[in-house]
Amino acid sequence: MVKAFDYLRNYEAIESEVRAAIERVLRSGQLILGPEVAAFEREFAAEVGTNHAVGVGNGTDALTLALMAVDIRPGDEVLTVANTAVPTVAAIRAAGAEPRFVDVDPDTLCLSPELVAAAITSRTRCLLPVHLHGLPADMTALCDLARRYDLRIIEDCAHALGASLHGRHVGTFGDVGCFSFYPTKNLGAYGDGGMCVTERPELATRLRALRMYGFDDRRIALCDGRNSRLDELQAAILRVKLRHFGQAQAARHALVAHFRRGLVDTSCRLPATTTDSVHAYHQFVIRCPKRQAVIDALEARGIGYGIHYETPLHRMPAYTTAHAGRPPLVVTDRAAGEILSLPLYPELRSDEVEQVIAAVRAGLSEEAR
Ligand SMILES: Cc1ncc(COP(=O)(O)O)c(C=O)c1O
Repeated sequence: MVKAFDYLRNYEAIESEVRAAIERVLRSGQLILGPEVAAFEREFAAEVGTNHAVGVGNGTDALTLALMAVDIRPGDEVLTVANTAVPTVAAIRAAGAEPRFVDVDPDTLCLSPELVAAAITSRTRCLLPVHLHGLPADMTALCDLARRYDLRIIEDCAHALGASLHGRHVGTFGDVGCFSFYPTKNLGAYGDGGMCVTERPELATRLRALRMYGFDDRRIALCDGRNSRLDELQAAILRVKLRHFGQAQAARHALVAHFRRGLVDTSCRLPATTTDSVHAYHQFVIRCPKRQAVIDALEARGIGYGIHYETPLHRMPAYTTAHAGRPPLVVTDRAAGEILSLPLYPELRSDEVEQVIAAVRAGLSEEAR
């Protein structure tokens, strides 16, 4: 048996540090927006190589507040992908704007700059690329388009802590980069959490106001705001995990190399890599045209898996109207029927990787019959 995700293995390795962090917060007398959040924001900004980080309640709110901070308003269109988690687009709607789905590049499965260029209208105000599964989207081309058409860019980095392009961490190319600390993420809290990063001080100030009732530092509401704060307990736990993050990413990369060696000669398509980028490998996603045979082989052996994501958003009732009459998303639809996420977390053992490889190979040979 191999689980798709198992946070307890990690907890057992860092238990004493986590317990000390929790105790420190409980004894401090400050549970909301105190020294742990402030320290974690500084440490996270340094990790990503940016000036400002603002802790918020979750990754969805990070996106919503970022859109609000760059003045996205009702009636504005935000171009994004349909092969993402629902929250990417729920955030666009929560900010009052309309999502417009654009197809993805057939290799990377990230937002296609050529198709973005064709989809821009007079109402387009913002691009929202997702660094899917941890692979950086083509930020060079997207930033060029944003400059040319005076668009904002909000990056969905929920999968992508640890990913970079030309030596720059993702999240630092657009106006705001948005991260999630949902427990399964590369840096996972023991609950919800999120972070916005930005180079621009005025946006950081705006985000700090938006996360708490629109307050300035004298607690005077300057604008409409929300309540979406990262709490001290999660921040203290995330500080512990951030200290181990480099090691955890190295373990992910070693496991990925093992998977690649074991599957390179098979008919399944392995995750794309791109020139001069570092993949964060939040998920290791293979593509198999006859996926069900592989799923059957995994299930028969008690091996967990995932599909990120099985139903593209333009096919969900909440968003079909938003896509009515628009160009078909051929690559997105095809990929949805082929993608399969194999178990990947730093504590996965190499004998477990071998079991997964054997199961995938068995499923593929079954499929070939
Ligand atoms: C691509 C993507 N964007 C946004 C989010 C939202 O993050 P959260 O669950 O922390 O709100 C997630 C996580 O579920 C995600 O996978």
